[in-house]
Amino acid sequence: MTAQIIDGKAVSIQCLERIAQEVAKRKENHQRVPGLAVILIGDNPASQVYVRNKKNACEKVGFYSLSIEKPASFTEDELLTLIDELNENPEIDGILVQLPLPDHIDGQKVIERIRPDKDVDGFHPYNIGRLAVKMPLMRPCTPKGVMTMLDAYGIDIKGKNVTIIGQSNIVGRPQALEMLMKRATVTICHTATRDLAEEVSRADIVVAAVGRPACIQGAWIKPGAVVIDVGINRLENGCLCGDVDFETAKERASYITPVPGGVGPMTIASLLENTLEAAQLHDKTSN
Ligand code: GUN
Repeated sequence: MTAQIIDGKAVSIQCLERIAQEVAKRKENHQRVPGLAVILIGDNPASQVYVRNKKNACEKVGFYSLSIEKPASFTEDELLTLIDELNENPEIDGILVQLPLPDHIDGQKVIERIRPDKDVDGFHPYNIGRLAVKMPLMRPCTPKGVMTMLDAYGIDIKGKNVTIIGQSNIVGRPQALEMLMKRATVTICHTATRDLAEEVSRADIVVAAVGRPACIQGAWIKPGAVVIDVGINRLENGCLCGDVDFETAKERASYITPVPGGVGPMTIASLLENTLEAAQLHDKTSN
């Protein structure tokens, strides 16, 4: 069997078109366009690319986008003050602080300073907690994008064995909560997992979010399984590659996401969806 490729780029374009239509409607109704502030501290090259992609996507759908770039010497107090200002700014519906932050800044403190209704990353403990009790408000973007993509391809989740490799706050944990909401039987693997190959081979759906190139071998994949590769790893030759050994896995899977062009564009689509939802929430509460 050769897997069908899940085209995340195409699904993300459909999402962006829907959002652009909503923005056009808002303009017709003389409503504010949604506003997103993206903060980048320091000069991490990968973060610079991600932030540029987010800004370009905002412009495509007609959002107001505020891009704030500060040197690595920016202090934690300065960042917290900046967040306080954006929390109070009525033109801003969403605030995103690109991670990772320099070592002298406490990332969790920063995340918790963002007003939960403007936390379009969905990382605030309030938003994670809401997801955990099946009452999501702002849903973390990458796991949400994975769910949107599976839905777009009509892939059923209820009752399936889902194995997630990676337990990060950004992907693994919220992905498990998303899958649980859809009534999957969920396994989360991490560095203390005893037999990773065995856990992967039991899965109907595999979500790899490790951050190590091609560490999930094709031979571990159950024939017919769905393989979602969240990893974006840059190799020494400059190429991007996922966490899954794509060439071998695609010969066993029924569906598989490529890297690039799979999960990555869906993360941005979810961010824009969250920003639109935040604006709709703020319509009701006048910010
Ligand atoms: N760094 C890697 N992924 C993300 C993300 O989804 N949001 C933010 N803010 N930083 C990240």
